[in-house]
Amino acid sequence: MFLSSATAVAWAAEDARGRSLVQNEQPSGYDEPLRPQFHFTAKKNWLNDPNGLVSYDGEYHLFLQHNPEKPDWGPMHWGHAVSTDLVHWKELPIALYPDELGTCWSGSGIVDRANTSGLKSGDEDPILLFYTAAAGEKPASQCLAYSNDRGRTFTKYSANPILPHIVATNRDPKVIWHEPTKRWVMALFKDGNTYALFSSTDLKSWTHLHDLEFPGCGECPDLFELPVDDNPKHRKWVFVGGDGSYLLGSFDGKEFNRESGPHRADYGTNYYATQTFSNIPERDGRRIQMAWMRGGTYPGMPFNQQMNFPTELSLRTFPAGIRLCRVPVREIASLYGKEQSWKNETVTPGTNLLEGLKGELYDIQAEFDLGDVEELRLELRGQAISYRPAGGKLTCVGQTCDLKPIDGRLKLRALVDRTSLEVYADDGRAVFSFCFLPAAGEPRYELSAHGGSVKVVSFRAVELKSSWR
Ligand code: FRU
Repeated sequence: MFLSSATAVAWAAEDARGRSLVQNEQPSGYDEPLRPQFHFTAKKNWLNDPNGLVSYDGEYHLFLQHNPEKPDWGPMHWGHAVSTDLVHWKELPIALYPDELGTCWSGSGIVDRANTSGLKSGDEDPILLFYTAAAGEKPASQCLAYSNDRGRTFTKYSANPILPHIVATNRDPKVIWHEPTKRWVMALFKDGNTYALFSSTDLKSWTHLHDLEFPGCGECPDLFELPVDDNPKHRKWVFVGGDGSYLLGSFDGKEFNRESGPHRADYGTNYYATQTFSNIPERDGRRIQMAWMRGGTYPGMPFNQQMNFPTELSLRTFPAGIRLCRVPVREIASLYGKEQSWKNETVTPGTNLLEGLKGELYDIQAEFDLGDVEELRLELRGQAISYRPAGGKLTCVGQTCDLKPIDGRLKLRALVDRTSLEVYADDGRAVFSFCFLPAAGEPRYELSAHGGSVKVVSFRAVELKSSWR
């Protein structure tokens, strides 16, 4: 098993209460040429979906679909990492291993604060994981595992499965607490474009509520409520499908009623299997999402695949209706280094404002007054972004979305890592996620105006440090 190599140097970090946070290999390495520097990767081998995202006692737990044997998809285990800030992750030993019911496919995590499951055995609240046992001799079923030691060890529930096979490879249970009805609710992918909802009072026996059609979408459901425009009295429920696209509606604990959607969540090519954290403390109150940046390639690397950078979700009203917006979590500031910035600069054709940028990792935040420009072009580590205000088209790395200027302006934010680029336009109104292979030589950056000039209201390029050091 890769985490117990005899040459590994054991180390321990402590949390605020002096308890051991992590025991693991020394976090050295993580510096190969194609290794993302602030996006999560497994130290070795394959990962896909983020699973069991849960916050408990000051730690964020990220479990992951993981094949510990090879840098390819294969027999699924739940890998595990923890973080106190969503930025610096420490890989822990594997949390779930395959058993006679099957390998461990995707699912979710919750904290059973009121011990409704009766699985609590010590001073800590139990953390419960819901996963799909699949690719075994029996057809796919939903199972439970629990931890009474802050997620350091997990025990499989003795009467698994908690939800027997229904149809096809039914999978990916996402469990949430529904306060008004004081019930647990499970969203489950059945087959095709069909999902099902179940409810439970003890997390062990589940009653079918209803089935739900999600045109064009399958796998990895999520379900949560958010205020609209920060108004706590105006709230909507969001039902998310495997590619992050979502339905908006109402949910009374029994039935999800779609009011609009599906709406697209990402216009890039590498965003899949999203999930939001449960049990984020109320005083924080954020809805934080992670996703698998499906499809990147990392030739010659000991790892394969990366997660996105965690984002904070919100619902905001636009002329077309209410939409889900997404921006990087503020904790990214802990990686901030040297900054270069410009204010009120006019860029005319033939000049490149970013000629002097040479770094490889950036958080870029810009606002443009578009003036009479025909096309605004940005190149970030050789990845092309183009905006044409007249038609209202934003194109990133060959993918285009409609985005009309707001009051003649455009805001762009971009996270640039060694092998990924995330672009957030207009405070997360449109997001593009990409993986790329960097060209040889010095990273190239460009900001130029074509067919007119553009006013750079502000442009900040903040260099980022590696989160692995
Ligand atoms: C999504 C998915 C899930 C499944 C898991 C298996 O990427 O196909 O539906 O549970 O990956 O690794």
